[in-house]
Amino acid sequence: MANDRGPTRADATELSQAPDAPIPVGADAPLLQVMATMRAMRRLKPDPVPREVLLELVRAATWAPSGSDAQHYGFVVVTDRAQMAELAELWRDVVDTYTKLMGTVVPGTDDERHARMADALRYQAEHFHETPALIAACYQRSSPGLSTLLDVRGNVALARSLGPTKLRHLAAGARAAGGLGEASSIYPAVQNLLLAARAHGLGATLTIWHLFREADFRRVLGVPKDHGIYALVPVGYPVGRFGPVRRRAVEDVVHWERW
Ligand SMILES: Cc1cc2nc3c(=O)[nH]c(=O)nc-3n(C[C@H](O)[C@H](O)[C@H](O)COP(=O)(O)O)c2cc1C
Repeated sequence: MANDRGPTRADATELSQAPDAPIPVGADAPLLQVMATMRAMRRLKPDPVPREVLLELVRAATWAPSGSDAQHYGFVVVTDRAQMAELAELWRDVVDTYTKLMGTVVPGTDDERHARMADALRYQAEHFHETPALIAACYQRSSPGLSTLLDVRGNVALARSLGPTKLRHLAAGARAAGGLGEASSIYPAVQNLLLAARAHGLGATLTIWHLFREADFRRVLGVPKDHGIYALVPVGYPVGRFGPVRRRAVEDVVHWERW
């Protein structure tokens, strides 16, 4: 969506379920109700999360599909207090940057709903050093499959077998596919991780604002150069409750047969 001031936030008119409908939590909670009530959980108790449980979250993440089944992911799980304190400094800095962008280049962040979100962001930043666990979802950049595509002009045998037209299409697609291929191979894993957290009664949020200080997060987390950090997910037992999400009506977003 765009107007002359750039992209706008879409009207989110539909509540995913009635406010008084049950909110199931736990391993046997019905999946669709879980999805309908899995909002971003930013207020977390400082109570530690057992290591086995964190391992279960990462295991569930690995069950997600990845492009060419490459499975080039890596997850850094932080629970150490000194490490978390160092990350908290960086976290506060990127939240400060984001907050200054809100209402300006971040679209539609001036209504009441987003004022509540801003409160939650502030709370999380102030308490970040108490976050029980942070999981960094990483993926190897330019996995061999994709670099083969990107390098297709240098690959004479492949170029011959494809022919000029397919080669041209492939080269055009491969440019766009670079980062997208890796991102689309890690985000399903991150969503699995969020769902698994919910199954264990844990709250979590997918975040990407580490990108404002990517090099510093990379240094503290020790992530190798050939891997990108695609999400940082703070995890803990929630202070508040899960609840319905407000989204665009399905009729407004679906296009049958052609857009
Ligand atoms: C790609 C992506 C990036 C996000 N980045 C951040 C982030 O950097 N910080 C944050 O607090 N939340 C982040 N979120 C969470 C969104 O803000 C949240 O899902 C959205 O506001 C809807 O909130 P709700 O699910 O509670 O309704 C991100 C979500 C996605 C999918």
